[in-house]
Amino acid sequence: MAASVVKRSVYINDKVFLVTGGAAGVGAAVVRALLAENARHVAFIDVAEREGAALETELLSKFGPLRAKFIKCDVSDEDQLATAYFQVVDKYRRLDGVINNAAVLSDSRHYKRMIDINFTATVSSTLKALEKMGADKGGNGGVIVNISSLLALDLSSHLPVYSATKTAVLQFSIAMGSEEYFAKTQVRVATVCLGPTDTAILNRTNLENFDKDSTAHLTSRVPVRQRVEAAANGVIEVIKSAKSGATWIVANDQPAYDCSGNIAEAYQVLSKTQV
Ligand SMILES: NC(=O)c1ccc[n+]([C@@H]2O[C@H](COP(=O)([O-])OP(=O)(O)OC[C@H]3O[C@@H](n4cnc5c(N)ncnc54)[C@H](O)[C@@H]3O)[C@@H](O)[C@H]2O)c1
Repeated sequence: MAASVVKRSVYINDKVFLVTGGAAGVGAAVVRALLAENARHVAFIDVAEREGAALETELLSKFGPLRAKFIKCDVSDEDQLATAYFQVVDKYRRLDGVINNAAVLSDSRHYKRMIDINFTATVSSTLKALEKMGADKGGNGGVIVNISSLLALDLSSHLPVYSATKTAVLQFSIAMGSEEYFAKTQVRVATVCLGPTDTAILNRTNLENFDKDSTAHLTSRVPVRQRVEAAANGVIEVIKSAKSGATWIVANDQPAYDCSGNIAEAYQVLSKTQV
């Protein structure tokens, strides 16, 4: 028992993490949970300057000097993202884990920006993290958790672009977490599919996107939203326990669980359609 606790805790205890979209919602809860689990330093990047600065002040007073750092950064801007990674590694001299959590749910006029933030920036940040942490690049290995959604596993017609970005995050992360990559990088890449969670992303304005019916549909279908703390606890469990390439579900305030078997089965069925 004691041995397994020690083994799981090594992934967080005294380690340096970067969380994208960490100023509010699930990201902020993950930042808090990592510090509560004794991460040495947690840097979090976000466009929300006021919320980010306020959270940094709160965390420094609660956990002590240097434990947390807010960096204002738009993840969809390659230069800003590269600068943020440079700042973290320059300040803390190492990087052990990255949670790619930043995302938006915006209306149809802004779909290209949503794809940039939700998918393209997740790819860029994953590749940058592998550059810094990959054993094949001189790093110490580590963990990357990419945040997807239950909508990636659902063929409903609602929120088509948002759902597609989250499906893309899932497939990309499964591929980057494959044995083949892990053997070289020693960086586990895992995906979390979150269920509806009580954050600003689900506010009515965000949900009124492609058709008016989608708001009523989504709010009636998902009356229960889990607490951000439950979502963050699920992400922590994934950091501690997930195998590389795994997909976990964190929903309904329940403990996180590995659904990789179902995903593999689904892809096996899909691959049967090839001639
Ligand atoms: N809340 C839910 O019901 C739910 C369900 C499934 C998946 N998710 C996923 O969980 C993750 C967290 O979402 P949330 O619910 O906490 O939403 P949120 O809106 O509360 O938080 C998202 C954070 O990302 C930041 N952000 C947005 N654009 C950014 C950019 N360009 N650069 C940097 N930061 C940016 C925001 O400022 C905000 O702090 C997202 O990936 C989301 O898709 C959420």
